[in-house]
Amino acid sequence: VKYVGTFNTKPTRSMALAEQAKRVAAEFEFGDDAVNKAVKEFIREMDEGLEKEGTEMSQIPTYVTAVPNGTEKGLYMAVDLGGTNFRVCSIQLHGNTTFSLTQSKVAIPRELMVAKTSKELFSFLAKQIEAFLKTHHEEHYAGTLRRREGNSVPPQHDEIFNLGFTFSFPVNQIGINKGMLMRWTKGFDIQDAVGKDVCALLQHEIDELHLPVKVAALVNDTVGTLMARSYTSPGKTGTLLGAIFGTGTNGAYVERLDKVTKLTKDKNAGEYDSSTGEMIVNTEWGSFDNSLRTLPNTPYDIELDEKSVNPGIQMFEKRVSGMFLGELLRLALLKLIKDPNVPLFTDDNSSSNDVHSTTQIHDSSPIWKQWGLDTSFLSVCAGDSSPGYRMLRQTLDKDYDISAVSAEDAEAVREIAAAIGRRAARLAAVAIAGIVINTGRLDRPSGSATTERKSSIEPPRGDVDGSDGDEIDVGVDGSLVEFYPNFEEYIREALRAVAEIGTKGEKRVRIGIAKDGSGVGAALIALVAGQVAAPE
Ligand code: GLC
Repeated sequence: VKYVGTFNTKPTRSMALAEQAKRVAAEFEFGDDAVNKAVKEFIREMDEGLEKEGTEMSQIPTYVTAVPNGTEKGLYMAVDLGGTNFRVCSIQLHGNTTFSLTQSKVAIPRELMVAKTSKELFSFLAKQIEAFLKTHHEEHYAGTLRRREGNSVPPQHDEIFNLGFTFSFPVNQIGINKGMLMRWTKGFDIQDAVGKDVCALLQHEIDELHLPVKVAALVNDTVGTLMARSYTSPGKTGTLLGAIFGTGTNGAYVERLDKVTKLTKDKNAGEYDSSTGEMIVNTEWGSFDNSLRTLPNTPYDIELDEKSVNPGIQMFEKRVSGMFLGELLRLALLKLIKDPNVPLFTDDNSSSNDVHSTTQIHDSSPIWKQWGLDTSFLSVCAGDSSPGYRMLRQTLDKDYDISAVSAEDAEAVREIAAAIGRRAARLAAVAIAGIVINTGRLDRPSGSATTERKSSIEPPRGDVDGSDGDEIDVGVDGSLVEFYPNFEEYIREALRAVAEIGTKGEKRVRIGIAKDGSGVGAALIALVAGQVAAPE
């Protein structure tokens, strides 16, 4: 029996609801001890991944051995296949830490993410590149039609665009523009692409259209973010880490080459320039602790994983990134909705002035369907400080067909959503802490950068009180860091709780958004790749 708000039941209802919300929120707690344990495990898995193949964290050598310093110049093209969108852009690097970018973006049709053949996806991508050239670079496009008719010479050297291909999935890289797809993540599932060289797949479709474009570099979005951040805000020590907290999550960092033993001891490894003594490593931390030694595991995490296309993998990502947080909240709310002892969404709103009806979850509500609740809703919850959570209730009504929600109910939803967001940020801190500690950056006293960076401009002043070289620079991108209120603050709170970092270390960590980083970064790597390939 559902009691409607009478004089006697009202206070009991609020108390019961508040209690239930607290109970669920507590399931998502990830305390300081848990953070510290996970950091230790993260460091162990980092080291293991540098030594051998087939580990949980793949630690993929990227063949990129230097980060830019802001003086790089030229016109490049970049495409970015990330999670939700496909972006095509051209980037003019001005050589003074600035750039201009022209871009177009399309949502990737859902059916292409799970297409039967990779050709369907890659020919779609090539067509987007063609459309972009036609609109923005007529001078490069002009020869294409003649070539297509078979009556013209191949594209001239200065007509050819070097393209950086940002492909944000785990790839076993065997050269700067060659890499085999290891597995899909983030809901993609096209079996025939696994094990194939994704650059060759794209180049093939580009050639079919006779476009003057050469896939010069293969880049993970995290590597692009790291490069872009280094280009736009060069400090003395360079950026240590590029991280994405978006649809998926992952990080790439600057590692000492002599620690990447699985590469340095491999006789069949491709060529790389070892003169810097460093290499960028793509951690693929989305798969950190797949065996759940230290990750939290609520009933909601379990259910989400079981019903995903890739159960048992990307377990860290499934607790941290945008593709999954909305679903965790949906599963938690659904459990409460279906429990007859919990009064969530049963209010008659007699206490509220502006609505006078009983809450209704309509059959059409997306909340009933897998992935029905978008992670942006968590940002709405966290950001709503209006009286009675009006924004939150409006969003539930407009976007989720749950009408006449009371302020009390909104408060309960908000509490659970906040717990999920906060846990995600604290987990994100585990990864950042692991890398900061394990690269030894904390032990480096001010100004003792291993590589003195040549830069034409003064390094920007960070919001830290240490001197240049004291700071540990982290470039981030992705919808969570961009839109989730206080994501960085929650990360910092957890960083301070890590024994080896503490308040002092946390202050040295500078976190900055590298907006559009993956595009610019891909251009920068295409530039480096072009220099390597071009004859003197
Ligand atoms: C997934 C991909 C990874 C990518 C990340 C962020 O974790 O496996 O390659 O960097 O998403 O987009």
